[in-house]
Amino acid sequence: MTMILTDLPTAIKRSDFASDFLWGVSTSAYQIEGAVAEDGRVPSIWDTFADTPGKIRDGSTGAVACDHYHRWEEDLDLAQSMGLNSYRFSIAWTRIFNGVDATPNPKGLEFYSKLVDGMLARGLQPWCTLYHWDLPQYLEDQGGWNNRATIDAYLQYVDVITKHLGGRIKHWITHNEPWCTAMHGNWDGMHAPGNKSLPLALQICHNVLVSHGRAVQLIRANVPGAKVGIALSLHPVKAASDSAADIAAVSRHDALRNRWFLDVLYGRGYPAEALALVGNDAPKIEAGDIEAIAAPCDFLGVNYYFPEIVQDAPDEYPLRTKIVYPQDRQRTDFGWEVSPEGLITLLERVARDYPTGDLYVTENGSSYDDHLGADGAVTDTARRDYLIRHLAAMRDAIAAGGKIKGYFAWSLLDNFEWAEGYLRRFGLTYIDYATQRRIVKQSGEWYSAFVRGKN
Ligand code: FCB
Repeated sequence: MTMILTDLPTAIKRSDFASDFLWGVSTSAYQIEGAVAEDGRVPSIWDTFADTPGKIRDGSTGAVACDHYHRWEEDLDLAQSMGLNSYRFSIAWTRIFNGVDATPNPKGLEFYSKLVDGMLARGLQPWCTLYHWDLPQYLEDQGGWNNRATIDAYLQYVDVITKHLGGRIKHWITHNEPWCTAMHGNWDGMHAPGNKSLPLALQICHNVLVSHGRAVQLIRANVPGAKVGIALSLHPVKAASDSAADIAAVSRHDALRNRWFLDVLYGRGYPAEALALVGNDAPKIEAGDIEAIAAPCDFLGVNYYFPEIVQDAPDEYPLRTKIVYPQDRQRTDFGWEVSPEGLITLLERVARDYPTGDLYVTENGSSYDDHLGADGAVTDTARRDYLIRHLAAMRDAIAAGGKIKGYFAWSLLDNFEWAEGYLRRFGLTYIDYATQRRIVKQSGEWYSAFVRGKN
C-alpha cells in the first residue's frame, strides 16, 4: 500500500477503478436550496434553529443559501460538465407536505420531479437521501423524533416520494448520519433542534433507526429493483498514546460512536459495552424494533472525514473518554485531521466486521478558506491534494479486497455548513454569495479531468 505519492495530480487515474465505478458529488437540500418560503414549503427545525440568535456562528440561515431552488439547471449542468455519472441529493420533507394533515404539496413534488428528470437527462444517476436533518417544524412541535408518531409521519413521506419518483430513482438512502441527527441535535445541542440531553438523544437515535428499518421494507415494496441503504458518519478511533488506559478507551469510544449503529443495523443489537456505559440512559425499545432496524440493506454509505483520537478520561460521562487534537497532524482550515490512511482503515474495518454488501463513500471532503483570485480563479491546491490522496486511499482499499463501488465528493458547491453558516467552504465549486456566481475551483477542475480520464 503506497501512500507516498510523488506527483499528486497524476498519481491516480480513473482507469485504476472499475469502468462502472460511480463518480459523483453529494449535496443536501437545506444547505443549498434556499427559497424557504416558496411554493408552499413549510419551516423545518433548521429554519427555527438558524433564526435563533447565537446558534449559527455567522448569524446566517439557509434562507437563500446557493439559491439552488432557482438555479438547479445550472448546477446540474455543472455536475454534467465535470463528467460525473451520479449525483447525491436530498429531498426537503418540508416541501412535500403542508402540515400534520399530510396533504402532499404538488409544487414540492413537481420540483423534485423536474430535478430528477434533469439528472437523468444529463446522465447523472440519482441517489436520493430521504432525510438530511431538516425535520418539519410542525412535527418537532409534537415532540419530533422523540415521539414515535414521527416514525409514522416519516413512513408516510417515504411512501409518497417513492411512489412519485420510484420509477426514476433506484438508489435510496433512508437517513444521512443518524449520529448527527440524534447527538448533535439533542446531546451537545450544536445542531437543530438544539437539545442537551443524552437520554433524549439516545431515544431519538433509536427512533430514527427504527424509521430507517421500516422504510427499507416500504421502499422495496414501492420500488421494484430498489437499492436501499443508509449513510453513516463513521470515524476510525485511535488511542492518543500507547498507555493501557488510552488503548482501553478506544473500545469504549468506538462502542457508541460506530458500533452503536453498525451492530444494530447488522443484526447484533446494541453493543453490550455501550449499553453498560449509558446505563439508565439507554433508549426504550419496543417489541420488534431491533428486528426492524436490522432489515437487510443493499449497500452501506460511508461518510468519512477524519479519525478520532481518544484518551482515557475517567470524569467524562458516559464513555470516560475524551477526544484530543494532537498538534502534529495535518489539518484542514476547519481543524479536521487530514488522514487518507483513516479511510483505508475504516473501509477495511466495516467490510471485515459486517456483511455490508457494496460500500459507497457517500461523503468525503475538506473545508479551506478559499478566495477568488484577481485572475478569476480559485486555486485550492490543498483541497485538490486532499481529494487525490483520498482517492488513492480508496484505490488501495479496493486492491485489498474492498467492495467499494462509488465515491461522492462533498460537495458540488460551497454551501450553508450548519452551525458554521457560510464560514466553511467545502465545494469543488466556489460560490460568490453576493452574486451567486459559480466558479469551478482548481479541485473541481482536477476531479473533472480525473473522471474524464484526462489527467
Ligand atoms: C457531514 C454532513 C454534510 C456536511 C459535511 C461537511 O456531516 O452530512 O451535510 O455538512 O458533514
